[in-house]
Amino acid sequence: MSEFKRYLITSALPYANGPIHIGHLAGVYIPSDIYTRYLRLKGKDVISVCGSDEHGVPITLKARQEGVSPQDIVDKFHKINKNAFEKFGISFDIYSRTTSPVHHQTASDFFRKLYDDGKFIEKTTEQYYDEEAQQFLADRYITGTCPHCGNESAYGDQCEKCGTSLSATELIHPKSTISGSKPVRKETKHWYLPLNEYEPFLKKWILEDHKEWKTNVYGQCKSWLDTGLQARAVSRDLNWGVPVPVDGADGKVLYVWFDAPIGYISATKELTENWETYWKDKETKMVHFIGKDNIVFHCIIFPSMLKAEGSYILPDNVPANEFLNLEGDKISTSRNWAVWLHEYLEDFEGKEDVLRYVLCANAPETKDNDFTWKDFQNRNNNELVAVLGNFVNRAIVLTNKYFDGKVPEREIINNYDKETLAEIPKIKTKVEYSLENYRFREALKEAMTLARLGNKYLADTEPWKIFKTDIERVKTILNISLQITANLSILLEPFLPFSTKKLSGFIRYERADWEMAGNDNLLKPGHQIDKANHLFQKIEDKEVEKQIQKLLDTKKENENNNKAVNPAKENITFDDFSKLDIRTGTILEAEKVPKTKKLIKLLIDTGIDKRTVVSGIAEYFKPEEIIGHQVSILVNLEPRKLRGIESQGMILMAEDTDGKLVFVSPDESVQNGSEVK
Ligand code: MF3
Ligand code: ZN
Repeated sequence: MSEFKRYLITSALPYANGPIHIGHLAGVYIPSDIYTRYLRLKGKDVISVCGSDEHGVPITLKARQEGVSPQDIVDKFHKINKNAFEKFGISFDIYSRTTSPVHHQTASDFFRKLYDDGKFIEKTTEQYYDEEAQQFLADRYITGTCPHCGNESAYGDQCEKCGTSLSATELIHPKSTISGSKPVRKETKHWYLPLNEYEPFLKKWILEDHKEWKTNVYGQCKSWLDTGLQARAVSRDLNWGVPVPVDGADGKVLYVWFDAPIGYISATKELTENWETYWKDKETKMVHFIGKDNIVFHCIIFPSMLKAEGSYILPDNVPANEFLNLEGDKISTSRNWAVWLHEYLEDFEGKEDVLRYVLCANAPETKDNDFTWKDFQNRNNNELVAVLGNFVNRAIVLTNKYFDGKVPEREIINNYDKETLAEIPKIKTKVEYSLENYRFREALKEAMTLARLGNKYLADTEPWKIFKTDIERVKTILNISLQITANLSILLEPFLPFSTKKLSGFIRYERADWEMAGNDNLLKPGHQIDKANHLFQKIEDKEVEKQIQKLLDTKKENENNNKAVNPAKENITFDDFSKLDIRTGTILEAEKVPKTKKLIKLLIDTGIDKRTVVSGIAEYFKPEEIIGHQVSILVNLEPRKLRGIESQGMILMAEDTDGKLVFVSPDESVQNGSEVK
């Protein structure tokens, strides 16, 4: 154990634009909580900070989609996620948020300091601008055709079909998702952090001084540094975030990845007046718990920011995890392929520790791992119930039965007893070593070895068979079993906080303190224990089958969504097609047909004439919104009367699988009367 005076534990601030799932828990929050609880048990000066990451483009996009404000979105998910963490015993000392005034001030000051110290480069570049909406467009607000695969709905930063990362200017036919208009390029000024200048510092600090970091983390850093770093823009044209605190920066905010990690600092400020000791004293050990997609931000960018500022310490370690898959598939929010914490809490109330256990036992520490409901059930039934629960239950029940719940004396000790007792401190040392090195799966496995040891000890010595003939022997056996039980209540606390709390209640041993573990005399003879309840319950097949069924339903739904498209109709000849006279026209007037739900009466300039068309689109469009739209219209369809109005043609619409209608319009405005062929 190193000689640090205090510990500052940070856990990646989750975006407040959706609920949290098991992947988040397994990757970040369970390891960070285990580590924090362990340090607290050791009596260390430790604080654990986290909070919601409430800025960034995806939040503004989601708000726009749902027709609410970004603040509404983050308020909702901040509350949901904060509550889920509490329910699972993730014991942050503070769960703050980046919309808090303290954070805005802190992030703003941080930027300002770097700005005043000349740490930024100012650069003017051309970016896409939406003239209709009068705003610059973040990459995610632009869609267009992917130059690599032709996917027509690629985003300005990435094509999700072929996976290529793009820059918005590469898109063919770019389109603003805000107004639908074609964006234009316009000059805009931003501030850049010249990461290349920090390369020598980073190379020494990581590649030489932190060779002990996890291979996945070290490897990623090395590859970034080998490739060479470039200046990164730390501001954006957006109206949601921390405003850039310099003159002439109207409409600009700090880049979300600039402000979010400063959230760790703000949260500490909100927690304690003493925040500077945690952040600026070299004797603080700072550890960032994150998922692998956050490595570059926590190992390269944030440390460069801290270095540029000058007065802060750097993390001692960044034990990033890989990803957790679910039943063989990548967890995905958009495909609803996840186990959401709020749903787990409904279906498995009181079994929070079971999930903590399974996610730790199977954590993606060195490679991506798979969560399956079968494994969940097996680990609960075969490990928590059959080993841990069974052992402590027998020790406590037998002590109550034979000795009225008073811890018996240890009489003559045989070799087997001695060997068993000798294992306790050894196991403690191993658990401790694994925890210190961020190997939480291994630590849990070791701690469970003690439960296995106890279980085997009882099975081998069978006190229930000799009570009548050798009560002295039974006293020794139960004394030893209870010492193991008390040790378990300490060693397992970081992993299973709820169950160990119950367990300490059963044996009335509540002074859990890490350094007491390893001791084989925690419960003194004569100490009165309480009755036991079952710590864990068996999980039946039907319970996991229900969960599996839920996932199968999701899968089916996803498949249906993908292929609800109707099959192609029978072939026609070119002549058949050329009989259709389709023109582009402009909607001049639009009004709802009275007493109907769907019909709108349109006056269309077809280039040939101005004519009336009745169209069943009123559920999707307001008349005033579509005036001026250019559309495609079939002009030689036999006129027919609808509600007494003669309709002279048909507007072409695309209808998606859930019935939504959109106009089939020319990509750019053309002369009315242009033929569509
Ligand atoms: N919100 C980010 C994510 O979910 C993590 C932010 S971590 C912080 O990937 F350091 F920036 F706060
Ligand atoms: Zn593509």
